[in-house]
Amino acid sequence: MKIVVAGGSGFLGEPLRVALRADGHTVANLTRNTTPRAPDDITWTPDGTAGAWAEVVDGADAVVNLAGEGIADQRWSASRKQSLLVSRLLPTRSLVAACARATRPPRVLVSASGVGFYGPHGDEIVTEATPAGDDFLANVCVEWEQAAEQASTVTRVALVRTGLALHPGGGALAQLLVPFRFGVGGPQGSGNQFMPWIHRDDWVDLVRWLISESAARGAFNATAPEPVTNREFARALGHALGRPALLPVPAFGLRMLLGEMSEMLVTGQRAVPARALEMGFRFKFTRLDEALADLFSSKIKIKNSKIQTLS
Ligand SMILES: NC(=O)c1ccc[n+]([C@@H]2O[C@H](COP(=O)([O-])OP(=O)(O)OC[C@H]3O[C@@H](n4cnc5c(N)ncnc54)[C@H](OP(=O)(O)O)[C@@H]3O)[C@@H](O)[C@H]2O)c1
Repeated sequence: MKIVVAGGSGFLGEPLRVALRADGHTVANLTRNTTPRAPDDITWTPDGTAGAWAEVVDGADAVVNLAGEGIADQRWSASRKQSLLVSRLLPTRSLVAACARATRPPRVLVSASGVGFYGPHGDEIVTEATPAGDDFLANVCVEWEQAAEQASTVTRVALVRTGLALHPGGGALAQLLVPFRFGVGGPQGSGNQFMPWIHRDDWVDLVRWLISESAARGAFNATAPEPVTNREFARALGHALGRPALLPVPAFGLRMLLGEMSEMLVTGQRAVPARALEMGFRFKFTRLDEALADLFSSKIKIKNSKIQTLS
């Protein structure tokens, strides 16, 4: 197949492209970078319209949309919040325009979203049938998904509501490792909030499955079947690293440090992948301890209190 990935240079896109190429597919990566970093890079200007780059979408079998600025990269000022929204809406609209303009539209658009769609929930189980929340992240996800759904007149649309994708090389786990490195890791806030995690390999497999499974349309939680609380997560991470997980970080401290973004850490969702499981997708990693054991087996070691990521 010919598969176009937009925003495929990042933490999730890179391993996805590697896996798709290993499957024998031809992959093109839409990037804003004007100097190609990889042979499959194509420069695009995601301004809400379809430019010359859109030719690559015509005749492609699948498009995967991962573009957007990093949610946790900076404090959420009013202008940062606007950038987080716009950096998702414009690329999505550009891809939808490219699909609409194509003489041979792709068979599927797999478009990123997040479990933030649901807003904060206590310990109630959250499935794809749970309605949207009403905080900043939920509103971003709603608009982002609605923009992608516009392509459903010409192609199948699958929305990937990703939880915390885990790999020590980046994303949330790389940030969570920092306090453990200094021996001060522990739960955040009350520790009772749920953390819907997914091993990054399972995320890659789920997207490959969404591309090939012709009945898969609409929203899919990309989260492991067994979410854990933040306290359980800290304990499991401490255990995997052989480091204590004793020191709680109080919610007010996180709020002082991170502002509104701290809500993302001190609240959560007990999200489960109900639809993928119902439709027969099998996760390799359902238990967090097994996922962490795999992730840290050869990829990381702690030497003189420094974490070294080997791959
Ligand atoms: N990682 C997770 O745990 C997680 C969880 C939930 C949801 N998600 C969502 O899944 C998607 C991929 O995640 P990721 O972790 O791979 O993100 P990432 O590492 O930040 O990569 C996202 C890519 O988007 C492109 N991009 C950045 N700013 C952009 C802008 N203003 N306009 C257009 N493109 C832009 C960049 O590609 P170029 O610089 O090459 O253009 C970048 O490589 C994101 O939308 C993210 O919100 C991720």
